[in-house]
Amino acid sequence: MRRVGGKGERRKGKERGAEPSPARLVTLHDVERAAKRRLPKAVYDHLRSGADAERTLAANEAAFQRRVLWPRTGRDVRGRELATRVLGVDVAMPILVAPMGYHRLVDPEGELATARAAAAAGTILAISELASVRLEDVATATPSPKWLQLCVVEDRARTRALVERAAAAGYQAIVVTVDVPVLGRRPRDVRAGFAVPAELALVNHREPTAEGAPGAEGSAPVGFDAVTPDAGFTFADLEWLRSIAPLPLVVKGILRGDDADLAARHGAAAIVVSNHGGRQLDGAPASLDALPEVAAAVAGRCEVLMDGGVRSGTDVLTALALGARAVLVGRPVLYGLAIGGEAGARRVLEMLRDELSAAMALAGCRTIEDIDAGLVHPAPR
Ligand SMILES: Cc1cc2nc3c(=O)[nH]c(=O)nc-3n(C[C@H](O)[C@H](O)[C@H](O)COP(=O)(O)O)c2cc1C
Repeated sequence: MRRVGGKGERRKGKERGAEPSPARLVTLHDVERAAKRRLPKAVYDHLRSGADAERTLAANEAAFQRRVLWPRTGRDVRGRELATRVLGVDVAMPILVAPMGYHRLVDPEGELATARAAAAAGTILAISELASVRLEDVATATPSPKWLQLCVVEDRARTRALVERAAAAGYQAIVVTVDVPVLGRRPRDVRAGFAVPAELALVNHREPTAEGAPGAEGSAPVGFDAVTPDAGFTFADLEWLRSIAPLPLVVKGILRGDDADLAARHGAAAIVVSNHGGRQLDGAPASLDALPEVAAAVAGRCEVLMDGGVRSGTDVLTALALGARAVLVGRPVLYGLAIGGEAGARRVLEMLRDELSAAMALAGCRTIEDIDAGLVHPAPR
């Protein structure tokens, strides 16, 4: 395990052999606990932290606890079918991997291992422009579908270059994150003096070499300023993004019906109802609470996905019942990667798949289409 600097670091990474094998971890919370034991404190805190007082971070998981499932019985639930389609692409389950920076913080192979895990699970991996492996290398790691997430920056030529590279490398959608006009403040990172090691930072934002190869080994990273999201971004910029590449746009970070309406009008193919895992505006609603309003506003004009706090198969069932076509899972995948590399990340995705299959059976659903709003009620007070 690579040591990561930070004055708050108190714990060194432990060898993987000291932990139970990924197959013996039973819930996603077990995986998180094992990752916490394994990772340097500053790294674990960086992954789990939220903005400011972490109200929204807590709200994401708590929102699932405020719903109850009203199961149907006496339905034939043999041969359950979890497969579905997202943006026209077949996936084995309605559970995707959310874009997150720097997977090599927790595993030497980083995004390459995550890509193999997502491919084994038959699902889509969204990689971040802050990935610690070049996007071209992630693309060739597996033939399975991938999306590239980015924020629009002031120097539109840089954004255009990234979009064009994604299209050339075979990415199937661009995820435009819209909830980062400025970066949320994360007190845990500030206290720990957490900094991403230079060799992992901005791998996809290196100056072209003399030969013109983008992001080539050995080339210098651009400054962080050059990749700071443009606070002047508006939904009108979606039209421009659509004009530079024939890729569908997934607009990530929407919590309101009126914003969802604007995104749909400006050509979003999908919306991710998200508060960035509680890492941006603290006090923003739980994603699950925002989901019904967004789904209603969109009214089928584009696909609706959600992320934030999904930690079990029943959570996936709940989100689908409230209007999501699929969910994205963030931190648990990195925790899995931290404890077992590719196998650990795969285990997390398999756990969620198996839990969803069981939850569907217990709720009387054989297929994803059988999941409807009638299955979920607010918890009694
Ligand atoms: C360590 C970490 C890094 C992240 N990096 C990005 C990123 O680069 N781009 C982005 O749009 N979202 C990023 N996110 C937010 C995730 O895509 C996602 O919205 C969130 O993690 C979902 O919540 P969950 O972790 O509770 O599943 C990051 C989240 C974490 C925890």
